[in-house]
Amino acid sequence: MLAILSFIVMVTLAKADNLLSVQVLWRHGLRTPIDTYTNDPYDDAFFGVPDGELLKHGMEQHFTRGQQLRKMYVDDLKFVSPKYSRFETFVHSSDYPRASASVLSNLAGFYSDSPTFPTGIQSWPSGWTPIPIHTVPHDDDYLFCVPESPTCPRFKQLQDQRMQTRDFQDFLAANWRLFATINANSGDPESYSYWSLYMMHQVLVIEKDCNLTMPDWVTDDFWAQLDAANLAANDFILGAEGFGLPLDQEMFRLQSGLMLKDWMDNFEGAINGSSTLKYVVYSGVKDQILGLANADYASTISCELWERNGQHFIKFLFSDNIDEEFRTFTRLLPCCNDDLCPLADFKAFIQPSIASDLKKECNA
Ligand SMILES: *[C@@H]1O[C@H](CO)[C@@H](O)[C@H](O)[C@H]1NC(C)=O
Ligand SMILES: *[C@@H]1O[C@H](CO)[C@@H](O)[C@H](O)[C@H]1NC(C)=O
Repeated sequence: MLAILSFIVMVTLAKADNLLSVQVLWRHGLRTPIDTYTNDPYDDAFFGVPDGELLKHGMEQHFTRGQQLRKMYVDDLKFVSPKYSRFETFVHSSDYPRASASVLSNLAGFYSDSPTFPTGIQSWPSGWTPIPIHTVPHDDDYLFCVPESPTCPRFKQLQDQRMQTRDFQDFLAANWRLFATINANSGDPESYSYWSLYMMHQVLVIEKDCNLTMPDWVTDDFWAQLDAANLAANDFILGAEGFGLPLDQEMFRLQSGLMLKDWMDNFEGAINGSSTLKYVVYSGVKDQILGLANADYASTISCELWERNGQHFIKFLFSDNIDEEFRTFTRLLPCCNDDLCPLADFKAFIQPSIASDLKKECNA
């Protein structure tokens, strides 16, 4: 009885609430390692695709993710139309092949049960509609500003300063065994830089995700220590709190400031009626927005704008990977104490992280 009652209440509430806009961002699916080491038994030829590109498994992950998002926003909420319209859906992708291949796979899933356009072309893939995506060349891309790109010297400078701190250097020194093992086995020139740990971790984690047999020198102990070191350092070098330093607001803004501005503009446009967009996609976001050292493949954040009694609220949802349900995490944000958070509160909270001219800030 209680269950029925709460169901009725939910339905009533849902009717009073009005979804105005959805913005999703995600990590790419399973890909090949970006860099590798000289003695790596698994090279590009082994994987069959060049370094950093999406694997078949990664395409499948995003195809599934697209179907899940379709169920949420097309089938269940009846918010996005089943048939693609550029006035409703807008797709940003970074210019990395793994990001654009991820979004193409995802959209194939999102629009898979749609009235396909076109029809009647011989050999056209069944159930597939080409969805336009928007990309900007790396060197001009401040939306998906990425730490390793040359577009943001200021970020690199701040990152180098972090890596030079006493606490961080002590941490590297304490991990001397890792450097010794890597230097003895990689076949690469000897290195004691954090980047050699970082590179080895990203190669091995992917090869493990692909269920490949590890070389003998990659013992369980070595892997556990490397994984722990990566977990401790990865968010820190992107600006998160750690090693005696607080979160670096400027590093956060340099990575995410333009995307946050875009989100707020899209919400504003949905509220004031200047925009008809309902579903905006960002493919190629790395871990920086939430600072997740080990964000899983196809992990996805959805940011929704709701209207209730003339007031505007945002709601954040997250799913770790395609096997995990979406769950709200809005109340985890310091500025929100409910799963619907007043838009004005969120805006005030992120104000210091919003950038209007990142190119200028990056080159300051
Ligand atoms: C690796 O093995 C696990 C467990 O059997 C399986 O779920 C997963 O799909 C495999 N990964 C790949 C890339 O084949
Ligand atoms: C509506 O919001 C957009 C995005 O912030 C802004 O550019 C535009 O000027 C606003 N239009 C009106 C009529 O307020």
